[in-house]
Amino acid sequence: MSQNSSQAYWMPFTANRDFESAPRRVSRATRHHYETTDGRQVYDLFSGLWTSGLGHCHPTITEAIATQAGVLDFNMSFQFGNELAPRLAQQLTALAPENLSHCFFTNSGSESVDTALKIALAYHRACGQPERTMLIGRERGYHGVNFGGMSVGGIPNNQKAFSGNLLPRVAHLPHTFNLEHNAFSKGQPGWGGHLADELTVLIDQHGAESIAAVIVEPVAGSTGILPPPAGYLEKLRTICTDHGILLIFDEVITAFGRIGEPFAAQRFGIQPDLITLAKGLTNGTVPMGAVLTTDTIYQAFMTGPAETIELFHGYTYSGHPLAAAAGLATLEVYEQEQSFAGARALEPEFEKAVHSLADHPLVVDVRNFGLMAGVDLAPDPDAPGRRGLVAHKRCFHDENLVIRNAMDTLQFAPFLNAELADIERGIESVRRVLDQINS
Ligand SMILES: Cc1ncc(COP(=O)(O)O)c(C=O)c1O
Repeated sequence: MSQNSSQAYWMPFTANRDFESAPRRVSRATRHHYETTDGRQVYDLFSGLWTSGLGHCHPTITEAIATQAGVLDFNMSFQFGNELAPRLAQQLTALAPENLSHCFFTNSGSESVDTALKIALAYHRACGQPERTMLIGRERGYHGVNFGGMSVGGIPNNQKAFSGNLLPRVAHLPHTFNLEHNAFSKGQPGWGGHLADELTVLIDQHGAESIAAVIVEPVAGSTGILPPPAGYLEKLRTICTDHGILLIFDEVITAFGRIGEPFAAQRFGIQPDLITLAKGLTNGTVPMGAVLTTDTIYQAFMTGPAETIELFHGYTYSGHPLAAAAGLATLEVYEQEQSFAGARALEPEFEKAVHSLADHPLVVDVRNFGLMAGVDLAPDPDAPGRRGLVAHKRCFHDENLVIRNAMDTLQFAPFLNAELADIERGIESVRRVLDQINS
């Protein structure tokens, strides 16, 4: 059977057939712009896919990858190593909250999440509590697409087709979205901290002694930007500590300056037991993820004969030399360019720009935290999600702008080093598109 290349390529999280009617493809990128395959310059108001906070094709990172590719392209990762991965682990843990001192490398956010869940289960077993197997996620959470992350995640569309075989011992906290109390909130909403108490309900129901871990995104991202209500994360931390439950922060989006600090844990002043990472770790250039853990967790595994493998888990590409070189260069640039402070300084202006859409007749909510924002459109009653997709497409084709939509939520994630004028121009473009949709 003959087929063209786009039929051969099955795109991820994409309406494949619809895409073909007006493809959105790019062939190059420079700093804050893509060049489309038909030669247009398109401004990226989503930093890749939350990945590329420093801008595309940063020369320092590009050079580090190119050099490394000619020096050591690959090494066996099991019982064998390179010099770069330990160096990156050391630098990452130096940047992290001080209780997190060990780093396990993966290749993506999904792998980081499943790795963290496995470490949590194995940790309790190592501590003589093998009955702690239950995992608690949160409604509307996104933790990637592998079986563990999908199961603790709380986005029904991501589970429906696979629901016959999700992880069995999972429960979910309620989400924190509430238009009645929190519409058009700026930063952390004031209402909703008490929703963390739902964890005690789950503890009463299942018994703390059966629960291994709670996993949350400190700011829920993919579902449409849900900043944590004031006091919420603090409460989760206290309840987990009181009951011997591990707290995992999934920081695949929120780490590396997205909310103006190296990690959300630092912005919120909370020490989780594990942090999952990916995306900004290499500025999106080479796939790489990581899980950070406390010394207590790590030491629980470091028992028994020294020749015994302590954790029967790992990936062919864990600590890949090219990815590690990209990670080291990325951390160097974050430091050199003071990117996290830059993002923090941009935050109030970005907030102002994005909330300027609040008066549009199609807009029912605007939320933001750090350099993350969500704008909810009133759904088309006949086709929920269509308006969001149309807005995304028109931004690209008519306004030379990349934004993201998740159903009818438009999402914005400017570069850490974005120019305010570019953000404002992007928001004006979005307004024009919404006007057209509403006309
Ligand atoms: C919070 C969070 N966790 C996990 C993932 C999954 O990452 P990946 O797509 O690299 O597997 C994502 C992706 O957006 C994410 O936002």
